[in-house]
Amino acid sequence: MTLRGRLISFEGMDGAGKSSHIQEVVSVLEENGFRVLRTREPGGTPLGEHLRALLLNDPMDLETEALLMFAARREHVVKVIEPALSQGVMVVTDRFADASFAYQASARGMPWTRMKSLESWVLEGLKPDLTFLFDLPPDVAAQRTARRGPEDKFEKEPEAFHQSVREGYLRRLAEDPERFEVIDAVADFESVSREVLLAFEKRLNEWRR
Ligand code: TYD
Repeated sequence: MTLRGRLISFEGMDGAGKSSHIQEVVSVLEENGFRVLRTREPGGTPLGEHLRALLLNDPMDLETEALLMFAARREHVVKVIEPALSQGVMVVTDRFADASFAYQASARGMPWTRMKSLESWVLEGLKPDLTFLFDLPPDVAAQRTARRGPEDKFEKEPEAFHQSVREGYLRRLAEDPERFEVIDAVADFESVSREVLLAFEKRLNEWRR
């Protein structure tokens, strides 16, 4: 029997700088002999990538936005994530359901309980085995986003929006602390990298037990 893979998600506000660290975790897994799938949300399937283009650029009603995020996620889970996990593949995703709680619930204002219903309907209990939360104050995140130029509609939102995104993530953390590794994303690249890899080695060892 194949051992089930693990689902690892990376989360944080825009400008938290998670992207380059995702590759480091993928490399560690590969060096340890695991098969790895790197993916992202919204996206991860052909349909999901179409939805991503709409979600990141077109203004829309809040409920529409939440439903499309979860429509893309459903497709991603059924067509890509579940099949990979059941074949023993480690799945590393740039964002997952926590982002909908942070952005569509906390920042945009969809009730938290309604988001929970959507989550349990669509995901049927699936949740990441480990979530890296890149945490930093919104003014630092805003400076970073401004430096490279805002690329999508979420990055163009004001600082108060991103403050609420952060609060949403911290609320998810409080609801399920065991699942998270919180990374201080203010630190320089090397320190963040060390923190991520150290935390990840610890989790890998726990999984091996
Ligand atoms: P991301 O891939 O991090 O953007 P980038 O390509 O700039 O690194 O995320 C895309 C955006 O989508 C990000 O601003 C957060 C937003 N988002 C939501 O609002 N809800 C969600 O459920 C997800 C997955 C992402």
